[in-house]
Amino acid sequence: MPKISLNAKAKINITLDVLGKRADGYHELAMIMQSIGLCDQILLETSTGDGLIRVFTNLPYLPSDRRNIAYKAVELFFDKTGIRNEGVRIDLIKNIPVAAGLAGGSSDAAAVLCGLNRLCQTGLSVEELKGIGQEIGSDVPYCIVGGTALATGRGEIIKPLPPMPKCFVVLVKPPFSLSTAKVYQSVVCEKIKMHPDTDGVIKAIGDSSLPDVARRMYNVLESFVESRTIGEIKTRLLNMGAEGAVMSGSGPTVFGVFSKQSAAEAAYKKLRRNFKDTFLTEICDANDLK
Ligand code: C5P
Repeated sequence: MPKISLNAKAKINITLDVLGKRADGYHELAMIMQSIGLCDQILLETSTGDGLIRVFTNLPYLPSDRRNIAYKAVELFFDKTGIRNEGVRIDLIKNIPVAAGLAGGSSDAAAVLCGLNRLCQTGLSVEELKGIGQEIGSDVPYCIVGGTALATGRGEIIKPLPPMPKCFVVLVKPPFSLSTAKVYQSVVCEKIKMHPDTDGVIKAIGDSSLPDVARRMYNVLESFVESRTIGEIKTRLLNMGAEGAVMSGSGPTVFGVFSKQSAAEAAYKKLRRNFKDTFLTEICDANDLK
């Protein structure tokens, strides 16, 4: 039976700007996204013979039916391509915290779409895969492409950027989860006092200047999430040598970027004592979709 093993990378938001509320209920966004080394592992198998979609995960509380985004990706893939599903099995090892602002679920769905495209030899283009992906979730098209990119629209319009300057990333997920929908519901556009300098960050990325990127990192959603813990983690990361620290996506994970590995390791070790979901990782290049 054809099998493929895939790494579904998490993402961080270097910036997240909310430009307004759209008629369809979504928010118009401008986000600079970056893939990181923290990833879920997926073993994908097709033609299992029973025509079913079976999802197994290491997290007992994750649904293994249509409510699981990886399951949805399989269904939509066969629906859109018109190919007959001869049975799919997904073994998913979740390392990326769930409901944490790191696009873990979106990345799983993106990996499944790309994996099925290979195993079924469908030859869908990246644009076609992104088209299917955006029906699953706003972050899925970005997760298909990965690397450093500007995402606009509701997040589905992706413009690749030059690679972000190399750095070490320490991520800390506070001990609670946030629903993306609820965080966006709490946004009052008229109350947004500050916006990130998206163009300035793009220029700093082009100049390969980590300090210039890091000091401009900003997430508009942070001001709508009430949590002292988020502010405390940011302060601790900055005090331990991070060049910048910000909440990722709709939170609550906070990350800091470090130029020095030794400082990143020391921060990771300290924060891990208080927060069990603390990770040390690096930034990653765009996905290889050949
Ligand atoms: O697209 P996705 O299903 O991942 O989005 C989850 C929720 O986040 C949406 O239902 C919507 O409430 C909110 N959202 C938004 N504007 C966006 C993206 C998501 O309001 N651009």
